[in-house]
Amino acid sequence: MFEYLTAGESHGPRLTAVIKSLPSGLEIEVDKINKELARRQHGYGRGQRMEIESDQVLINSGLRNKKTLASPLSMTIENRDWKNWKKIMEPLQLETEPQKLTNPRPGHADLAGALKYNQKDLRNILERASARETAARTAVGAIAKQFLAEFGIVVASHVIQIGNLKSESWSQLKQSANFDLDSKVEFENYFAQLDQSPLRCANSEQTKAMQKLIDSWQAKGDSVGGVFEIIVRGLPVGLGSHVHWDLKLESKLAAQLMAIQAIKGLEIGAGFEGASQPGSLVHDQIYYQPKTGFYRGSNQAGGIEGGISNGQNLLIKLAMKPIPTLAQALASVDMISKKAVSAAKERSDACAVPAASIVGEAVTAIVLAQLMTAKFGGDSLSEIKRNYQAYLKQLSEF
Ligand SMILES: Cc1cc2nc3c(=O)[nH]c(=O)nc-3n(C[C@H](O)[C@H](O)[C@H](O)COP(=O)(O)O)c2cc1C
Repeated sequence: MFEYLTAGESHGPRLTAVIKSLPSGLEIEVDKINKELARRQHGYGRGQRMEIESDQVLINSGLRNKKTLASPLSMTIENRDWKNWKKIMEPLQLETEPQKLTNPRPGHADLAGALKYNQKDLRNILERASARETAARTAVGAIAKQFLAEFGIVVASHVIQIGNLKSESWSQLKQSANFDLDSKVEFENYFAQLDQSPLRCANSEQTKAMQKLIDSWQAKGDSVGGVFEIIVRGLPVGLGSHVHWDLKLESKLAAQLMAIQAIKGLEIGAGFEGASQPGSLVHDQIYYQPKTGFYRGSNQAGGIEGGISNGQNLLIKLAMKPIPTLAQALASVDMISKKAVSAAKERSDACAVPAASIVGEAVTAIVLAQLMTAKFGGDSLSEIKRNYQAYLKQLSEF
């Protein structure tokens, strides 16, 4: 379940997402999908296009009276600027031959895609490679989030680095914060207030410095990347498995998270930092309390051991490279004349790390919904819940 497909070009008439199968009886709030789409569109450093777009989803199938029918759920998001793009992106016969784009951008799919697909107009590649597609994934993720909420699982994120400016990761916050980040209410409050922050970063002083950094790169026609962290609360022990490489939770998460445009690094728990420390400081020692069961004093593993969720918060950091379309265009070569030219300049963001963090949440939610339905199987939400409760009972009696 929760297998899906997205379709659509960046400036085409609309984006489409189809979720192949869902459990029946899951109530879907369309407002919550639109809220996630709006979250993806915000963030300091985004370009002009975000002002034109105000994404709204239309559900075309798979839902009746707000509840899933288990049949394919299809959704579309209209391109609000279609009237201006019809003459270039019309799927049927174009009235006039559009001007070809022939100067590939370094860091984009342009040149590799053109060579691979034998295309002499880069638009035939870049329209699909564009991160506009992530709006469709965000919509699918919003449905996955609503499913996970039925089990008390919350997927959140914050931005912890822009360029070389860092703010506290979740583990650092936990060490320093004077509020209880393990409490459900404080966890939710912490992440709710981040949506008001221009960069989705909790450190307001550092946010100002990050904004200045974005401004300074943007003024030079340049762009900047960063790091965000995904935190998942409420995950049960036992998603993923140690028995096969392709069932491991890390491999499932990495495969889909690394498939987000511009994501170039992934770290689970202590990750790269852990590699420089002795094992005694890295591994989360095991304790037991009769009332609450097994517990740990730390979470360096980031909630995964041996490819299996261990019941702690999932902690994943993702590095996003700087946006490749630059106003100060980079060196390129015209595909037809083979002469040196400047790379193409599409309308572009200077920094999209906050937006990418929302896409990261969505993709994480999709992977977890796939694994929850794989483990607790069942055709309806009520059947999955019954299986889940029986599993929790098994754990409590262990
Ligand atoms: C939310 C988001 C927004 C993005 N916005 C832009 C953009 O405005 N301009 C651009 O050139 N790249 C943008 N990118 C990055 C490109 O889509 C990406 O670098 C490109 O498709 C090449 O893929 P790769 O970086 O994964 O190799 C964005 C990525 C994300 C996740």
